[in-house]
Amino acid sequence: MIRKNRSVLVTGGANGIGLAIAKAFLKNGDAVTILDVDKNGCKKFRKWAVNNDHKKAMAIVADITEIITHRQIIDQIEKAHGPIEVLINHTGIGSSKSLFETEPDDFDSVLNTNIRGPFFLSQAIAKNMRRGNIVFTTSVHQDKPLGDATYAMSKAALKMLILEFALSMADKNIRVNGVAPGAIRNNRNVPAKFTSVPLGECRGRTKDIANAVLFLSSDNASYITGEIITIDGGLSLVNWVFQKTEQIPLPITIN
Ligand SMILES: NC(=O)c1ccc[n+]([C@@H]2O[C@H](COP(=O)([O-])OP(=O)(O)OC[C@H]3O[C@@H](n4cnc5c(N)ncnc54)[C@H](O)[C@@H]3O)[C@@H](O)[C@H]2O)c1
Repeated sequence: MIRKNRSVLVTGGANGIGLAIAKAFLKNGDAVTILDVDKNGCKKFRKWAVNNDHKKAMAIVADITEIITHRQIIDQIEKAHGPIEVLINHTGIGSSKSLFETEPDDFDSVLNTNIRGPFFLSQAIAKNMRRGNIVFTTSVHQDKPLGDATYAMSKAALKMLILEFALSMADKNIRVNGVAPGAIRNNRNVPAKFTSVPLGECRGRTKDIANAVLFLSSDNASYITGEIITIDGGLSLVNWVFQKTEQIPLPITIN
């Protein structure tokens, strides 16, 4: 059973997977707020909601790393839709830099967006949550190095953050879970090619993640907490880091 009319917050909800998640909750009959730095994306989301007769759709243009604004954001949502019952922490960025190219500013930017901001926003919301649940978006890179070190490190930290929140919220019967996408195609990004996704290359769709998030936040998952569902077409089944390095020709010494 999936309840309706919940006050849902989706961070990073203006594009890609986050947008698909926000739309899935609206289609379920929930009151949905997205929080995103992308003003145009927020406007498009509102327009889509109006055109599709979703009356309870709100967009807040804000930067999750600005912790000082969190209280104001929460108050705004509560005023419009009531206490937040479902929090989807989806915001995440990469640095697109190798370990050796990473500057302190890149490090701070990725860690602030992927960990520090979500941690303090979730803490502020969770403190007053009476019921509901929280879902975070991690990545298959929570367990596998990527080359973009700050990104993979932030996702590994997010994995522990989920477990800590799950443990701390269990006495209130508030469940905290995660989804770990593999390569997902979205409106802005065609995923990197991996040599072998068992269920097929480039088949991951934003709705595959949205469906899992909707399930985790429903009463159908009422005994699941501290769990992270991997949605990667089986990529984690194969040793793809090894396969990637295998493609690089090894140096050959000719005597
Ligand atoms: N697309 C994939 O293949 C894939 C795979 C694994 C994990 N993920 C995870 O999914 C999440 C988003 O992926 P996506 O494909 O939807 O990407 P996306 O870039 O389309 O969406 C990210 C959204 O977050 C917003 N955002 C970025 N920084 C922000 C900030 N400081 N404050 C508020 N909003 C901010 C962006 O404006 C954007 O709307 C990330 O957590 C990412 O790590 C994606």
